Amino acid sequence: MRMQILPTVSTLFIVISAIFVAFGWYHIVKGHRETHQKLMLWGAGFALAFFLVYASRTIFVGNTSFGGPEELKLPYHLFLFFHITLATIAAVFGIVTLLHAFNKRFAKHKKIGRITAVVWLLTAPTGVVVYVLLYLMYPGGETKPMINAILGI
Ligand code: HEM
Repeated sequence: MRMQILPTVSTLFIVISAIFVAFGWYHIVKGHRETHQKLMLWGAGFALAFFLVYASRTIFVGNTSFGGPEELKLPYHLFLFFHITLATIAAVFGIVTLLHAFNKRFAKHKKIGRITAVVWLLTAPTGVVVYVLLYLMYPGGETKPMINAILGI
């Protein structure tokens, strides 16, 4: 219970990141390049912060199993898989998008940047749904740290 704060913080970081990306997109469409760059870097920073919190929790505290009714387990896991897939695509595309921007390949940046932004803007709300299902609607199930599995304890 004590560490419940971490999923709340990481989910908040995804939402904040997506808000920066949405405003960043708006500003480049308006032609404000510097504002776009600044907002997107903040968006990337919060995405990285999310990843660091999420990864440390997975290793040291653990992943929580779904505590809802049996008949919702399969739909929940399918949805979770969808969310994780989106997040992974967004992370890989995000790095490529940033590399294109820093190397001034703006035509390529623009093309992949649109996909990155759309995927990330879907990752955030699906992440919130996972959070609500896992922690708010039902009492969370067991939480098992990965490090225990690694150390065999
Ligand atoms: C992961 C972070 C970023 C994302 C998701 C992103 C996304 C985008 C998107 C979607 C567009 C096209 C807008 C449109 O016309 O619909 C765009 C254009 C652009 N971005 Fe980014 N961007 C990011 C970071 C950056 C950074 C760090 C820079 C500056 C070095 C930058 C500079 C530009 C420029 C100059 C354009 C205009 C390209 C053109 O119109 O030819 N972006 N970006």
